[in-house]
Amino acid sequence: MDNHTHSEDTRPEPKETEPVNTETEKAEPVNSEPVNGEAVNGAAVNGQATSGEPANPETINPQSTTSAPPSNEDTNPEPENAEAVDDEPVRPPGAATQSAEAAEAPQNTMFPIQVDDFSTDDSDFESDFSDLTSLSSSVLDYEYENGRRYSSNRHTQYIMPNDEQEQDRLDLCHHIWLLLLKGELFKAPIKNPQKILDLGTGTGIWAIDCAEKFPEAHVIGNDISAIQPQWVCPNLEFIVEDYEVEWLYKAESFDFIHSRLLAGCVADWPQLLRRCYDALKPGCYVELHESAFWAYSDDGTCPDDSPLNQYLSALIQASAASGKPYNIQNLLRGWLIDAGFEDVTQLTYWLPYSPWPKDPYLKELGKYQQIMSQQAIEAYGLRLCTQVLGWGVDVSKIFQAQCRKQIGDRNVHAYVKEYVFYGRKPFR
Ligand SMILES: C[S@@+](CC[C@H](N)C(=O)[O-])C[C@H]1O[C@@H](n2cnc3c(N)ncnc32)[C@H](O)[C@@H]1O
Repeated sequence: MDNHTHSEDTRPEPKETEPVNTETEKAEPVNSEPVNGEAVNGAAVNGQATSGEPANPETINPQSTTSAPPSNEDTNPEPENAEAVDDEPVRPPGAATQSAEAAEAPQNTMFPIQVDDFSTDDSDFESDFSDLTSLSSSVLDYEYENGRRYSSNRHTQYIMPNDEQEQDRLDLCHHIWLLLLKGELFKAPIKNPQKILDLGTGTGIWAIDCAEKFPEAHVIGNDISAIQPQWVCPNLEFIVEDYEVEWLYKAESFDFIHSRLLAGCVADWPQLLRRCYDALKPGCYVELHESAFWAYSDDGTCPDDSPLNQYLSALIQASAASGKPYNIQNLLRGWLIDAGFEDVTQLTYWLPYSPWPKDPYLKELGKYQQIMSQQAIEAYGLRLCTQVLGWGVDVSKIFQAQCRKQIGDRNVHAYVKEYVFYGRKPFR
């Protein structure tokens, strides 16, 4: 029985009234190289099954922006592993420790983030983004629903679109992650890899960069959607396959396995991580990049009962009910350790939702994140709103428009936490 499963409580992690500041010596100044974390404490999480009751659309009023915050029982996301972080760590032999606070300290900024008063330049908040991108009609075996194109692979029940608009959004995510990681594709100490796997590769943009970085390596990107370019460098291969069915890859054949933004795309993370473990050579790494599903603000400008956080709460519940939860970032460390990985490391990055920070690096991140997240509102939520929560399309779209408006509001100083986790398969 796996201990690292979800509780019904959906809060992504502890809500901090004060930023964590006990590790200030580890908080890197902006534009400096992030400090690699040490191995993690791997605290156990004692949650319950992920597939709780579907969110009741009556308890979350999509049109109400002024209602009280959802209670802890339903949508208020109390941390799922908060107790576990304080518990005696459970570690595999050989795993060193990384304090939970060190793991949570942002690698890419001092905290709190300083707010820009925009006294010198107002143009940073203007966005020409339009969400009316045309759809590709070249692929026929897809489903069209409420103006978006989806994979027709009913088996996987992937709830996000795969149309051109979504592909552009994924490529923008890649750019944001490159900025966050200061141009790096990964943080694990990878040396001379010969075979690399990118799970759920999307448009393949990470795999393409990785194949260029390691011309001697054979890079494979898999996905249920064939949305990758056909002409790629010879050491790169895209495969249409479902990573949740039995893997046909040879045991102990990969030097590195990477995944990014697969929250909501995986029904059984412990199984997926065990498969990664089996497929990796001893001494080689798996690395996961994921987002917290929450909008944090240190000055209270994006409270729990804001449209954005009410919407995210609703999607957290709906995704858990659908069997592929979004709210997994607090569980990944434990799952990696359970799978047998050691020296499991978590790195945390703070990403502003818009260009509200004064700092130019964070401001640039915020510009991209605003455009990306305003698109993500629909991509992550439309199917869950209509199919799981039972909301009408119009009601869903009105709620989503409120969220987009909030994201673009310069007085809302919200940020999302992004995480890198990596762990090493033990040497024999
Ligand atoms: C949010 S996207 C992330 C794409 C890419 N990793 C990135 O960071 O740009 C999730 C991707 O996982 C793919 N996916 C979802 N379920 C899958 C499955 N069971 N097997 C393979 N790929 C899957 C989707 O088709 C989609 O391309």
